[in-house]
Amino acid sequence: MNQAIILAAGEGSRMKSSLIKVLHKINGKVMLKYVLDACKGAGFDKSYLIVGNNKDKVMEEFSSDTSISFIEQKMGPGEPYGTGYAASLAKEHVNAGDNVLVIFGDTPLVDEEVLKDFLKYHEDNDNNMTILSAVLDDCEGYGRIVRDADKNLTKIVEQKDASDDELNINEVNSGIYCFKGEDFLDAINNLKNDNVKKEYYLTDAVSYLLSKGKKVNAYISDDQNIALGVNNQLDLSKIEEIVRKKIITKWMLEGVYFKNPSNVYIEENVKIGRDVEIYPDVILEGDTTIEDNVKIYGYTRIVNSHIAKDVTIESSLIEDSFIGERTKVGPNAHLRPNSKIGKDCKVGNFVEIKNASLGDGTKAGHLAYVGDADVGRNVNIGCGVIFANYDGKDKFRSKVEDNAFIGSNSNLVAPVEIGENAYVAAGSTIITKVMKDSLSIARARQVDKIDWVKNKKNMEEEK
Ligand code: UD1
Ligand code: CA
Repeated sequence: MNQAIILAAGEGSRMKSSLIKVLHKINGKVMLKYVLDACKGAGFDKSYLIVGNNKDKVMEEFSSDTSISFIEQKMGPGEPYGTGYAASLAKEHVNAGDNVLVIFGDTPLVDEEVLKDFLKYHEDNDNNMTILSAVLDDCEGYGRIVRDADKNLTKIVEQKDASDDELNINEVNSGIYCFKGEDFLDAINNLKNDNVKKEYYLTDAVSYLLSKGKKVNAYISDDQNIALGVNNQLDLSKIEEIVRKKIITKWMLEGVYFKNPSNVYIEENVKIGRDVEIYPDVILEGDTTIEDNVKIYGYTRIVNSHIAKDVTIESSLIEDSFIGERTKVGPNAHLRPNSKIGKDCKVGNFVEIKNASLGDGTKAGHLAYVGDADVGRNVNIGCGVIFANYDGKDKFRSKVEDNAFIGSNSNLVAPVEIGENAYVAAGSTIITKVMKDSLSIARARQVDKIDWVKNKKNMEEEK
């Protein structure tokens, strides 16, 4: 069986955040999830996650994933520490014949392709232990891969324990290893903490297994990024930029046009069709689908929504909603959760829609609030119309039938119904049903005082 031991017990104090390090998000996805997905994708079906003082929050985040078992590492003064000790906490689950992957929870750029190649190399060479290494320009902080004159691996030396010559080595340890189960168990049971930091280093497994005549090799990945770990917000930001670019590049190669790709954010699960145009400062999140020929202009954020083909969106926020073909949204529209907009609609300037549906061809061009309503087809919602859905305590739904015309600045006090083809006069406050084919006027009658200004002026002059 292939199993992964994922080390994630560290405090991550350099993040200077109340959020646990491995739960920080990178391009919308939790850091630890990248590692878990990579392990699963490469065929490591079972994961043992070593958690520390952070255990409750991590367990909560991943509670629905039955492929993960959580193992607590006690942290604190006097407790044993180090990557070797942490990995040993999973030893009772390891069988001699397993492939055991050890990996960190804070190296999110490793992906399933790299792990697949790595595992294949490990198996093809019948290694007892394989290290995933990378050649870096800047090796600061990493353990170095030490090789003899014949390029055979001899050990890994931690930076703090390294000689000047060893510090010049530019092949580094990513912290990812694959072991044969029996060799993992043997090595883990023989680690010592006789080093500068008094830690049990998993890296010492290399020299131990070599001393036993075992076959230990390093697989050098040509992807430098796999070794990048997150220790602070600067690392997080660098890694996020790498992930962001990777996703944008993928979509460019799929034919999406970006006006300025350097400030567009697209999360992993977003799907985009052909001939889509995306302008600067656009954020596409969650399970969002953008169909063909959609144009999304700047300052738009779309979350968990489906945008059908030929839609145009200008500077708007769209959450958990559906937008039908050829509809125009914005500028500055807000579609709150559960809005369903039909085809050929208009949701214009400063229009807010919430938990409502608009039938095909319906238009709300300016400054309207449509909340908790079912609006039919070809309805005109005038400027400033408000669906007054809330009485201070409860919310109510309203219904507007096809072809109705709601005059500007009207209030529809819910629950209320407007019949088919009906007209509501501008400025009305409607509290009871407007019948089909009729006109309702619900406002004070206009009073005209002819020459009122002139008369007032004359009176003042006489005084
Ligand atoms: C480790 C490697 C180093 C490698 C580098 C790559 C060792 C001794 N060194 O160094 O060769 O180049 O990673 O990033 O392995 N952890 C626990 N419990 C512990 C100790 C650590 O869960 O008791 C976890 C941490 O949360 C962290 C990971 O293991 O995610 C790595 O530990 P860290 O102390 O950061 O190792 P490095 O010094 O970076
Ligand atoms: Ca580290």
